[in-house]
Amino acid sequence: MNASVAKPQKKRILAMLEHASGDKRFKILEVHMKKHQFRQDALIEVLHKAQELFGYLEDDLLLFVSVKLKLPPSRVYGVATFYHFFQLKPQGEHACVVCMGTACYVKGADKILDAITLKHKVRAGETTADNKLSLLTARCIGACGIAPAVVYDGTVTPRATPESALEHINHWMQK
Ligand code: FES
Repeated sequence: MNASVAKPQKKRILAMLEHASGDKRFKILEVHMKKHQFRQDALIEVLHKAQELFGYLEDDLLLFVSVKLKLPPSRVYGVATFYHFFQLKPQGEHACVVCMGTACYVKGADKILDAITLKHKVRAGETTADNKLSLLTARCIGACGIAPAVVYDGTVTPRATPESALEHINHWMQK
């Protein structure tokens, strides 16, 4: 790699690591990779876990995986785009990820999901007809202490209720 390519890439990696340091989900993913001894052949397994944690595989997430597994980003992107079960980004303008892990579930995450489905006629994994909202689910995003947790466009929000979720989404829909 020549220097002119390496520099922006390095900047991008530093920005990504900064983003990752503030989000517990990256930590959980790293522990998962460690369990696989950061083996490169565990890539698909790791991407599954990443999707489970985040709902979809955003750019920073793929870069994080490539750095930690010491794989070229092109390989990680290649695998993520090849398999239909990986979702690279939500189709909609906004993404609402409801954590359905045990702690969130027992505190009513299913009711939050049902309320959104009912009100906006969209099921988990789908996007509304007007393309404004993608509804996604994740499994334990590492915020059990503040369950039930919902992630609105990447921001983890504590102690969600059906009402607070509908209110948040309403703001998006009205714009
Ligand atoms: S179960 Fe939802 S954050 Fe852990």
